[in-house]
Amino acid sequence: MRPALRQRLGGLRPGVRTRDAEETSGAQERSRAEETSGIEETSRVEGDDDSPWGRPPVIEVRSLLKTYGHGDAAVRALGGEPDPVTGVSPGMNLLVEQGDMVAVMGSSGSGKSTLMNILGCLDIPTEGRYLLDGIDVGGLDEHQLSLVRNRKIGFVFQSFNLVPRTPALAQVELPLAYAGVRSAERRRRALAALALVGLADRVHHRPNELSGGQQQRVAVARALVTAPAMLLADEPTGNLDSHSTEEVLAIVDRLNASGRTVVLITHEDEVARHAKRVITLVDGQVVEDRRQAPADGPPPALRDPASFAAHHPQDPITGGRRQALTSGTSNGFGSGGTA
Ligand SMILES: Nc1ncnc2c1ncn2[C@@H]1O[C@H](COP(=O)(O)OP(=O)(O)OP(=O)(O)O)[C@@H](O)[C@H]1O
Ligand SMILES: [Mg+2]
Repeated sequence: MRPALRQRLGGLRPGVRTRDAEETSGAQERSRAEETSGIEETSRVEGDDDSPWGRPPVIEVRSLLKTYGHGDAAVRALGGEPDPVTGVSPGMNLLVEQGDMVAVMGSSGSGKSTLMNILGCLDIPTEGRYLLDGIDVGGLDEHQLSLVRNRKIGFVFQSFNLVPRTPALAQVELPLAYAGVRSAERRRRALAALALVGLADRVHHRPNELSGGQQQRVAVARALVTAPAMLLADEPTGNLDSHSTEEVLAIVDRLNASGRTVVLITHEDEVARHAKRVITLVDGQVVEDRRQAPADGPPPALRDPASFAAHHPQDPITGGRRQALTSGTSNGFGSGGTA
């Protein structure tokens, strides 16, 4: 990840020790909560209650454009090229409703990461509007944006982005420290999150003592521990073997089944199969939008686990294992929704 992005990641800055945050006072905790509620009050958009879903969509993008550079060197990364006659770009429009699980696909350079950086409030659009969980993020300053990132979004990256030489438990506590949660509560929630991703017996292990799949599961625990409105993942299984990919996807499936909205970028058809909706980008525009399962039901792998596993094209044994991992209705992930 680029250092500038890492710096803007709020709760995920490396080198910040958990002990620092243990000194966070109750007053700070209260004032941060007040700051966040201030964002909600001042930035929520009128008319949200008229949404066809009753609640505002988690993501609402209108006429979005992103251009890098200027003049002859300008690159239109999102929103499409301007019409040669009118000079107007179509812009990108996108709605993602609560509880959906969306895969974003497209060839290299099609704008996937650019979109993710904007959706994650790590970058700002050149033009257009972005409402995250009903909040117009265009009106927020840098400090408010970092609060929104911390409270509303759980990030998972291809390269895990764990803090070196830091035990899993401290990694997962970190975003809670930034949110001002006190030490005992942090520990309790981090342990629960690690248990949910199957790492209760690895909480004191450092990244170099964990497999790739286990490292990514720590990253998923870190992303979900703040109970964010949305899990945002850029190629979360890109560095994993097929076994670890299945483990991580089984966890993401269960998170989504418990109500968490998921947006994941992937090149792999096998990953996209897990999504309820698949969006394909070409040259910064949505060219295909395919629904694979209703937004308000379970994701495909949990709708009919036997048939999902049976259609696994490469490895029926892995498919069978997934079935065992995901069968049953009690998932222990609690309910999703807004933080
Ligand atoms: N910081 C930047 N400055 C200039 N151009 C950029 C920058 N970041 C991305 N681009 C350009 O914007 C376009 C979209 O890039 P983006 O990284 O979003 O693609 P992607 O779909 O994520 O590709 P990949 O699958 O290779 O990760 C590309 O043409 C890229 O060269
Ligand atoms: Mg990319």
